[in-house]
Amino acid sequence: MNLNLHRISALVLWFAVAIPGLAGAAEAAAAKKVDIAKGEQIVAAQCAACHTTDGNSAIPANPKLAGQHAAYIYKQLNNFVAKDGKPAERANGVMSSMAAPLSDDDMHNVAAYFAAQTMKIGAAKAGKASAELGQKIYRGGIAEKNVAACAACHGPTGAGIPAQFPRLGGQHAEYTEAQLKAFRDASYTEEQRKAMTNAAPRKNGPQMASIAARMTDAEIKAVADYIAGLK
Ligand code: HEC
Ligand code: HEC
Repeated sequence: MNLNLHRISALVLWFAVAIPGLAGAAEAAAAKKVDIAKGEQIVAAQCAACHTTDGNSAIPANPKLAGQHAAYIYKQLNNFVAKDGKPAERANGVMSSMAAPLSDDDMHNVAAYFAAQTMKIGAAKAGKASAELGQKIYRGGIAEKNVAACAACHGPTGAGIPAQFPRLGGQHAEYTEAQLKAFRDASYTEEQRKAMTNAAPRKNGPQMASIAARMTDAEIKAVADYIAGLK
């Protein structure tokens, strides 16, 4: 009886401590607001030369960041930085030197700022046959090679799903093509890569590596061109 009472009072105590504790944690998360104005300042001073102030870069090698999900941008900024003696998962000299000096808060701030901008959708340019192939791959994948439909993860309009799958729709075709090849390069062994002259593996997207590994250059080009005009 005594023991039972102890249990009950212990339970009451747990509720008394745990519930306000949970509420406190939620409040703390809400209170740690991102500072979009600070993000804008950093972008104007450090990023705009390549990505423009509104995130709609004019140069096709530089990705558009406008409307990209904040969680994805934040992840990439972290992936560009070498950590704990390990090389960066996503190797890019320029972006590594841009991301490394940013504090964790500022990575969140610039991510929130770019996410709040509006993506200017591009256009497919490679002609009808390419557009048809690109659309077929995007919507249905390549069944005979076990390549999943891009739409399954990135959404029918390329909007992605926040925190999980990046937005693709409207992106520069040249950039998308380069990333698909970089994901594909990451699927090769070190030995195979030594024999390749311009391999630039992007190791931070293992799901994408196995998809891109089964795609030819022509298929990559077609789907990248289709994505540029996707909305
Ligand atoms: C000198 C040009 C340059 C500057 C300045 C620059 N970037 Fe970049 N950025 C690039 C290039 C080029 C890439 C593509 C890298 C690759 O191919 O992997 C890129 C990629 C990115 C990506 C990955 C996007 C994606 O879709 O995966 C993010 C995020 C990013 N930049 C954010 C920033 C931020 C934030 C700043 C400022 C602090 C900045 N960049 C400054 C050239 C630049
Ligand atoms: C199983 C889910 C899945 C499927 C299917 C998929 N992707 Fe992805 N994709 C991802 C994930 C996850 C990432 C983010 C990787 C990271 O965190 O860097 C990504 C990233 C990308 C990126 C990089 C975007 C950027 O801004 O740098 C491109 C390009 C891309 N995918 C294209 C495609 C294409 C084209 C297809 C279809 C042939 C496809 N994906 C199918 C999950 C998927």
